[in-house]
Amino acid sequence: MVVSNRLPIAYREDSTGATIPLLSPGGLVAALAPALAGSGAAWVGWDGTFSGSEEPLDLEGFSLQPVSLTQAQITNHYEGLSNSTLWPLFHNVGVNPEYSEAWWADYLQVNRLFAQRVCNVVAEDGTVFVQDYQLMLVPEFVRSLRPDVAIGYFHHIPFPDATHVAGFEHAAELLEGLGACDVVGFQRQSDVDHFRACLQELNPSVEGTSLPHSAAYPISIDSAAVSTAASQPMVLAKAQEYATSWGNPEWVFLGVDRLDYTKGITQRLLAFEELLASGAVSADTAVFVQAGSPSRENVARYQQLSAEIDAIIERVNTTFPSVTGRPAVVYLRENLPRTDMLALFVVADVMVVSSLADGMNLVAKEFVAARHNDTGVLILSTHAGAAEQMPEALLVDSFVVSDITKVMQEALIMEKGETARRMKQLRADVAIHDVAEWATTILGDLSQARKA
Ligand code: F6P
Repeated sequence: MVVSNRLPIAYREDSTGATIPLLSPGGLVAALAPALAGSGAAWVGWDGTFSGSEEPLDLEGFSLQPVSLTQAQITNHYEGLSNSTLWPLFHNVGVNPEYSEAWWADYLQVNRLFAQRVCNVVAEDGTVFVQDYQLMLVPEFVRSLRPDVAIGYFHHIPFPDATHVAGFEHAAELLEGLGACDVVGFQRQSDVDHFRACLQELNPSVEGTSLPHSAAYPISIDSAAVSTAASQPMVLAKAQEYATSWGNPEWVFLGVDRLDYTKGITQRLLAFEELLASGAVSADTAVFVQAGSPSRENVARYQQLSAEIDAIIERVNTTFPSVTGRPAVVYLRENLPRTDMLALFVVADVMVVSSLADGMNLVAKEFVAARHNDTGVLILSTHAGAAEQMPEALLVDSFVVSDITKVMQEALIMEKGETARRMKQLRADVAIHDVAEWATTILGDLSQARKA
């Protein structure tokens, strides 16, 4: 059984105007589908609506178990404690975590609701696989009710310096929550080390043997599926349509992100502004396409980021006009359909992933999986977990805008042979280390840990 804050579903209107739920085919769905196939397998999560139905949904072989949350619970658990306290705490990029007692109370309450639902549904001696920081107390609550089950937890986001995390007033409770697991997984070894150091700092008497098994399991994508999808005629036609609509510039730079302040979107736009100012490219020879899906829009810091991005783009486009009138920065502020997203990966010459902190960054992996002809340069922040696995990218400290500009310049002059050599290696690695490997490894360790 999988437990994640959001269920992998989206609601669409059919031709009669009725709302129908559809399975969203994300990486996690693809990874866990084989493990979930079988009787009693289920996915517990919130369906993204206010006070929605708790009626289970059977979709494409998945039994989805929605947990109904009130508006107040969503405000306090999701927007509050999860995304205004824990998200900035764990990413540690200079945004201060906010805190309120009411948020913490509902974080407890919502974690209890999830745990209760799990316990009602999970089979005897079953396996419960909990995802991410929104649900760190679920393992402990489940364990207290169901000592028979195996419990794993995967932390998708960074685990920074121990002293920083230990400073949060409920850090000990969060880590105790994970203490009930058989396996606790992180993206990188440094995350594992920080987690262990944090446990020691909060509770120096804790014995090594009483800790859950913790290790690094770098998450990945369904590489084969992305690769196949990116070569479909519809995607190639859309890529062509994009290039034509931008006036077929010599260089297409691309950023694809959830609109989040951890992604370094302003840094990369400022770097592109410097690149234009340097004269290395002009608005006629180059375009920067930034696709940004709106995210957590009720949280003040996200509204502020959105305004910052708008202001930079307006300035760049006014300062560097093109002859044709096509803006230097094309901003696609929407949730793009999958075909359009893949077309962007196909049409880009330089992909810029400039996260200031990022557990992994799957966009970097999707970009290389989509490149069939071994062209294209990946600029990748050293602060993204993906950097450890993708050394053939042009790695950069994305806090330093002038360094991003420098690697953009490097990308412009890279020999074709060198570009192909790097891309081939990147593609080969992501093809082998895919999300199926991630799922098999962590679930395998979970079953071993339970037997031991
Ligand atoms: O990867 C971090 C994460 O918070 C996931 O847990 C989540 O599925 C995703 O980002 C999207 O975030 P949200 O559910 O807040 O839109």
